[in-house]
Amino acid sequence: MSIVRVVVTGATGQVAYALLPRIASGAMFGPDTEIDLRLSDISQMIEKTKGVLMELEDAAYPLLAGLSASSDRAQTHKDADWVLLVGSVPRGPGMERGDLIRTNGPIFVAEGKAIAEHGSGGVRVVVVGNPCNTNCLIARHAAGGGIPADRWTALTRLDQNRARSLLAVKAGARVGDVKRLAIWGNHSATLYPDFTNAVVGSKPADKAVDRAWLERDFIPAVQQRGAAVIAARGASSALSAGQAIVDHVRSLVTPTPADDWFSAAVVSDGSYGIATDIVSSFPLTSKGDGGHAIVPDLRLDAFAKAKIDATIAELERERDIVRDLLAA
Ligand code: LMR
Repeated sequence: MSIVRVVVTGATGQVAYALLPRIASGAMFGPDTEIDLRLSDISQMIEKTKGVLMELEDAAYPLLAGLSASSDRAQTHKDADWVLLVGSVPRGPGMERGDLIRTNGPIFVAEGKAIAEHGSGGVRVVVVGNPCNTNCLIARHAAGGGIPADRWTALTRLDQNRARSLLAVKAGARVGDVKRLAIWGNHSATLYPDFTNAVVGSKPADKAVDRAWLERDFIPAVQQRGAAVIAARGASSALSAGQAIVDHVRSLVTPTPADDWFSAAVVSDGSYGIATDIVSSFPLTSKGDGGHAIVPDLRLDAFAKAKIDATIAELERERDIVRDLLAA
């Protein structure tokens, strides 16, 4: 049995409360991997982690080989294999995720430095705190050049999951029938769920449902789903975010089925003409070794290209707003 050291920041928050039991139960790394779970939070919250630790102990997870909590990153991040950067200020009603950029950005400078200093040689990072694409860029820059580009990812799996569910319901299909439905660009109101390459069962998505619905209703519904949850719940998504983080890592540590892709925001390698100094969501595959490859040579029609251009332009604007943090 192997063991994986996993850090979750923002450990007393709502997303972590949904995520931690899933990691401890083996949902993220599978039944043959033991977990050394490290809870990280700011010093003002660290007392509260005692309650979460007690609950994790009380759940008696057979795979939980280590369990600890600290506000000292030198302890939590020491030799970490996976660092899940959940901790950040969440947005409230009426806000866009990008409004948090100057509030949350500095957190990711500190995280990037700590990961570079204390993480294991093979450390991999998942950024969840918003705006997650640009926070990932900030953390990567702060870490210096020692950690390869393909170890840095940010969460757009929640958008992919939302898109698959919405499309499945509209098509009268099951979620598992919707494949190759990738998210491009930013985890924001400009994200583009690419239905033009997606399939529902044996049909292209735009043959399974009306293209006008896909263009006019589906895209805004996916883009605004996070805001809709906030409006309805009075708090941002937690249960679905926790599930998406599990799915994100699971997709990186298991080989991608030949008939599907998954989405995550990754450091652009210039594919599809997208600037190399941003973190954008792409359709991806993985060999299951924790890394990923961008799906090449997809045909994108004029509609898809215009949508992708818009979301990439927003990522470039966000990058420009945090230039000082990228130089930190
Ligand atoms: C989400 O998509 O639900 C999260 O990013 C939280 C938010 O601010 O929408």
